[in-house]
Amino acid sequence: MSFVVTIDGPSAAGKSTTARAIAEQLGWRYLDTGAYYRALALKGMRLGMPAYDEAATRLARETRIEFSGDPSRAHVLLDGVDVTDAIRAPDVSEGASRIAAFPGVRRLLVEWQRILREREPLVGEGRDLGTVVFPDAEVKLYLDADPETRAKRRHAELTGRGLAVTLDAVRADMRARDERDRSRSDSPLKPATDATVLDTSGLDLARQVAAALALVRAHPSFPKGGDVPGRARA
Ligand code: DC
Repeated sequence: MSFVVTIDGPSAAGKSTTARAIAEQLGWRYLDTGAYYRALALKGMRLGMPAYDEAATRLARETRIEFSGDPSRAHVLLDGVDVTDAIRAPDVSEGASRIAAFPGVRRLLVEWQRILREREPLVGEGRDLGTVVFPDAEVKLYLDADPETRAKRRHAELTGRGLAVTLDAVRADMRARDERDRSRSDSPLKPATDATVLDTSGLDLARQVAAALALVRAHPSFPKGGDVPGRARA
């Protein structure tokens, strides 16, 4: 099994930016597990959102989710169609959080995510990577930040993409989604007992990434010659 770095935490805690930066520095695969749930939710929203586990699992079984292109801005393909931008809409965030609560869906998507580790080292981000998907990961990080900082970050990100959303709406959506992700019975969001917890509220990104990279490189199993910057893959 290849070396794995897991980065878990609530929305807008800085997981994606950190995971991408580490993957890029090391030339390792970047695994965005939220993109799987988002793509499946998008399909569900288009076809009629499944209301129970069996229907949601059937939908997942009939779905193909793939990644292609530049890892730092990987394209997400849903049944062969590029949905990279569509899956970032706020209503898809909500749908992803809902469909992710179905145990059958999780079992299947976790299986797809684990396959990737058989081939090469990777840096993955999500909610349950350190606890469920890769419990034996070499390095586990849990990023968090205070809710107001996270709401402002997400608001800036969405308005920066041209979406007309208020900070109040972002704050409310985020609170509801985090609450659902934390309280579901299957694989709830929580730090693994052996995760390093980082509060990113006042941290600048460069330091955050440097701290994470230092942890990775210090690990006894870190592959010699493992740094191949600029060769990150999605
Ligand atoms: O990381 P994200 O915002 O793209 O994730 C969208 C939703 O998908 C999130 O609210 C919960 C779900 N998710 C999950 O349950 N497990 C993961 N490993 C990743 C995401």
